[in-house]
Amino acid sequence: MKNTLFLDAAFSKPVSRPPVWFMRQAGRYMPEYMAIKEKYTFLEMCKTPEIAADVTMLPVDILDIDAAILFCDILVVGEAMGGDLSFEKGVGPIFSNPVRTAADIEKLLEPDTDEAFDYVYKAIHEILKRLDGKIPLIGFAGAPFTVMSYLVEGGSTREFKKSKALIHNHPKLAHKLLDKIARVTVDYLNGQIKAGVQAVQLFDSWAHALSFEDFNEFAHRYNDQIIQGLNRTGVPVIYFCRGSSYFAPIMAKSKPDVISIDWNADILSLKQTLPPNIAVQGNLDPTILYADKPVIKQRVEHVLEKMRNENGFIFNLGHGISPDMEVEKVKLAVDTVKNFR
Ligand code: CP3
Repeated sequence: MKNTLFLDAAFSKPVSRPPVWFMRQAGRYMPEYMAIKEKYTFLEMCKTPEIAADVTMLPVDILDIDAAILFCDILVVGEAMGGDLSFEKGVGPIFSNPVRTAADIEKLLEPDTDEAFDYVYKAIHEILKRLDGKIPLIGFAGAPFTVMSYLVEGGSTREFKKSKALIHNHPKLAHKLLDKIARVTVDYLNGQIKAGVQAVQLFDSWAHALSFEDFNEFAHRYNDQIIQGLNRTGVPVIYFCRGSSYFAPIMAKSKPDVISIDWNADILSLKQTLPPNIAVQGNLDPTILYADKPVIKQRVEHVLEKMRNENGFIFNLGHGISPDMEVEKVKLAVDTVKNFR
């Protein structure tokens, strides 16, 4: 590996500068992505290894970040379990056969992940070939609670009414569903590791919808099951939650290598509450990138200054890049991290 900044920081080793990459760094804010999207549906892009590799490489070439992330989606796990998944313009993801009853949960498959995700593993092989050891490749999966919420609601939601009704009224059924998703996810992530990804990130994007106790019981418990089930020798595990500002003490119990912090917390104070061998990733407010360039530079430097004397820090946003972001501004954030002394 030529650039080891990301892996060194993830393992809390000293680095010459913090590494930088972004969640959703390959996406609609890039004209090159939109040009590919004109020709294929989003799922075709995910499922054609050559195209998934093309998209994964866009930010590597355009932004020159310190880690690549596999181009795919967390919801392919729900699809492989029997969910009828589509992505509709202006609506987002849809499962047209939502999972709501005991019979629905019973019916969900636990597929052979080598077969079901063959296209992902092929994409990983292709991306590794193209990266040629330049920077590491991050694999990922969705956390069971977040994936469950899409399966149960049938799509995106702000209120989580049906998923919360399931966990509150029928906790045993919810546990059964979450356990099923967790078991498939462990095999899927171990498959990604076997295919060669050099790090994995677990995305619990909707964790912040849960109370502290419910997070522990219905989200973290299954995230822990996944983390403990991974063949993680040499492969750092990044545990991302929206809500990590307050859930970090629970998240740390799983001993991930990295906790990804949302933008609500003071990242230094939070890091100081964690065991020293757990690195942090984050945590610029993604909407700072809408500000004027001098403001972006100043805010990025503010985070870097704060973390100056810390090993175990990866610069990122608190969440993904928005589709209407200007590429120039994202690039400015990357360059500010790289030029910081
Ligand atoms: O970060 C990356 O660059 C890697 C690829 C990646 C995508 N989705 C590509 C994508 C990753 C890691 C994800 C994770 C994902 N997918 C999450 C967790 C992370 C987060 O953002 O909180 C979630 C909740 C999803 C589910 C999902 N996929 C939604 C809600 C949407 C629609 C978003 C929207 O605004 O329409 C998607 C589609 C999706 N996944 C896109 C991309 C680039 C946009 C698809 C398009 O081109 O229209």
